[in-house]
Amino acid sequence: MSPRTPTATGSVKIYRKKIIAGNWKMNKTTGEAKVLVEDIIRDIGKFDEAEIVLCPPFTSLETVSTLLSPINNIRLGAQNLNDKPSGAFTGEISAGMLKDLYVRYVIIGHSERRQFFGEDDATVNRKTIAALHAELRPIVCIGETLPQREGNTWKKVLETQLKGGLAGFTEKELTDIILAYEPVWAIGTGKTATPAQAEETHQFIRHWLAKNFSMAVSERVRIQYGGSVKPENAAELLNQPNIDGALVGGASLDARGFTAIVKNACPSPR
Ligand code: PGA
Repeated sequence: MSPRTPTATGSVKIYRKKIIAGNWKMNKTTGEAKVLVEDIIRDIGKFDEAEIVLCPPFTSLETVSTLLSPINNIRLGAQNLNDKPSGAFTGEISAGMLKDLYVRYVIIGHSERRQFFGEDDATVNRKTIAALHAELRPIVCIGETLPQREGNTWKKVLETQLKGGLAGFTEKELTDIILAYEPVWAIGTGKTATPAQAEETHQFIRHWLAKNFSMAVSERVRIQYGGSVKPENAAELLNQPNIDGALVGGASLDARGFTAIVKNACPSPR
């Protein structure tokens, strides 16, 4: 549970611990994964100002799981799952299989899954249900394309993704979900939303949660930003009041880059 801390005005402000996740996508052999994780552990294995999650490809989950087993503050995530518990689904991986490897988080509805593998909001909803049933924490991705941003339809697009992806969940379930706002035009392009643009969008998402669930839910749900997050821009983005973490692709493939993002974004208290 998030501790409640009184603000200067006496009202109660919810503390949301920042969550930084590395999405390795289809990169790293098992041997390469081992080297990367060892380097990350060496640098931030005791850093606990943020929740840190590593999402390697399925083939490296077991290796990374073993390496992370004595480490408290870095957790294991997967990049996808199937919504069925088992059966004749060649090439697919179930929530139970992930749990068996001590996976704690799972990315759902990443824009690359939507774009290249035909996933839609209904798929995202089914996968999120499967993850929650297995007590995996879903990281549910939403985001608009460049024409949608430029055509000023991004609010409508995000609303549709939120409505479809989060349909039918209770308030309790919602607070176990992490949202990742990833503008498609910023993923892997080197273009980032400006901190003001990202903050405005996160505020919009939080208002949507307040309107469609409750104020308590909107205050508790963590919303990550993703899209070309780098050591140089992480602090400014993560200093925004409604940005609660980052989903990092390219820059998470390099230990120095990833650990610098974690440290820049969440400096240790002095
Ligand atoms: P990127 O990817 O950091 O390489 O832009 C982010 C993501 O796809 O999660």
